[in-house]
Amino acid sequence: MADIGLFDAIYSARALRRFKPDPVPDEVITKILDAGIRAPSGSNEQTWLFVVVKDREQRRKIGEVYRKGGGILMALYANRTKPEHMDQKQYDKLMASATYLIDHMADAPVLLLACLQPGQVGAQPAQLPPDVQAAMRNLARMGGSSIYPAVQNIILACRAFGLGTVLTTIHMFYEDEVKAVLGLPPEVQTYALLPIGYPTDKFGPIRRRPVSEVVCLDRYGNPWKG
Ligand SMILES: Cc1cc2nc3c(=O)[nH]c(=O)nc-3n(C[C@H](O)[C@H](O)[C@H](O)COP(=O)(O)O)c2cc1C
Repeated sequence: MADIGLFDAIYSARALRRFKPDPVPDEVITKILDAGIRAPSGSNEQTWLFVVVKDREQRRKIGEVYRKGGGILMALYANRTKPEHMDQKQYDKLMASATYLIDHMADAPVLLLACLQPGQVGAQPAQLPPDVQAAMRNLARMGGSSIYPAVQNIILACRAFGLGTVLTTIHMFYEDEVKAVLGLPPEVQTYALLPIGYPTDKFGPIRRRPVSEVVCLDRYGNPWKG
């Protein structure tokens, strides 16, 4: 493991989408997942399920679904303009990198599916009082909040081991096909597909809109000046 501080990891674990073919030792994958499951989850239900895909043929099949998802993404992006905070060079780089992954997902030595199984909280809402049911309408938006903290832990743990990765989601356009490849039962939902491997590109630095642009104090519109 690299001797890297937490903040160095946070500031350098950028999205990496090109990987060397070198295998990732199982012990390392286990440690990364063990860091992942230190994450919080709603009601501490820990209903996460991770599928590590190393088999070449399985990776090829998932890569094909991802490629199809990429077709949908490209159609969605056809009329999209670049976000204001990115210059054209940065945007072109992002699109080139994302496009590369659409064609090369299967080349990563490890594909990791982060999934959730249904928990008890939120089940059988018909049996709950009407006011509780009404409040539950916001629950859908909470969906990913019990898995994405674990995914971020995994991203940082990968960084500590010198492994590149990126959180991807476009397989979800054809999620049923991914589930069929993996034999996942109907009630399990996939939330992220992470290719993992030793990167050919460098880590960091990560550029973001500054705190001053995205933080308010006490109420909307009142800038944080800290
Ligand atoms: C919710 C979410 C979905 C994403 N889906 C994809 C994806 O399907 N494919 C992909 O290549 N990158 C995907 N990304 C990665 C983003 O493009 C990346 O995090 C962003 O461009 C910032 O990259 P950076 O950390 O290198 O600056 C996703 C990221 C998030 C948080």
